[in-house]
Amino acid sequence: MAKIIGLSGSLRRASFNSMLLRAASQLVPAGTSVEIGSIRGIPLYDGDVETAEGVPIAVQELKSRIAAADGLLIATPEYNNSIPGVLKNAIDWLSRPAEDIHKVFGGRPVAVIGATPGPGGTSLAQTAWLPVLRTLGTIPWFGGRMMAANAATVFNEDGELIDETTRSRLQAFMTGFAAFVSRLALP
Ligand SMILES: Cc1cc2nc3c(=O)[nH]c(=O)nc-3n(C[C@H](O)[C@H](O)[C@H](O)COP(=O)(O)O)c2cc1C
Repeated sequence: MAKIIGLSGSLRRASFNSMLLRAASQLVPAGTSVEIGSIRGIPLYDGDVETAEGVPIAVQELKSRIAAADGLLIATPEYNNSIPGVLKNAIDWLSRPAEDIHKVFGGRPVAVIGATPGPGGTSLAQTAWLPVLRTLGTIPWFGGRMMAANAATVFNEDGELIDETTRSRLQAFMTGFAAFVSRLALP
């Protein structure tokens, strides 16, 4: 069973990215599971805190969950045509100490998806993640793109994905990513 861990880059209760991630978790083929992690509780990165106290417990726990997964799925908002600081901050903490980067991120299959109420679909944010993913030594999956534009119209008030076109695109994306993760999963 290939296991993917999903992270939403938004803390908002009614986050479209969290909705997209939940929908993605339900659209994986048999033999793959998606568990949903959270960046909630991760403080702002502070090198003095790291020196004095080490990596916060919330970060340590999430690092362990990512290290135990076969793949990582990131649902990213787009802020000012780039990466949202909240999620970048979480990834920065997750990359500490640098000796652990390989264990947490190295060789790990990663896919990026995103949702926005705007027309651009988080395309620029997804592209902005690429140097970060490369620096961490991940293996990004480029077999598909999943951008949920005009998100206010594709989810209902209960956060369910109601747009059939978006659903089938998400299903195809997750099928492709799941196959990629399974291929690269360690025996
Ligand atoms: C500071 C800020 C900057 C934003 N910049 C963009 C942007 O560049 N492109 C875009 O499509 N949406 C932008 N938005 C709108 C977000 O896509 C929208 O708030 C979205 O709902 C955030 O994701 P979430 O629903 O998962 O919280 C921005 C929102 C904020 C708060």
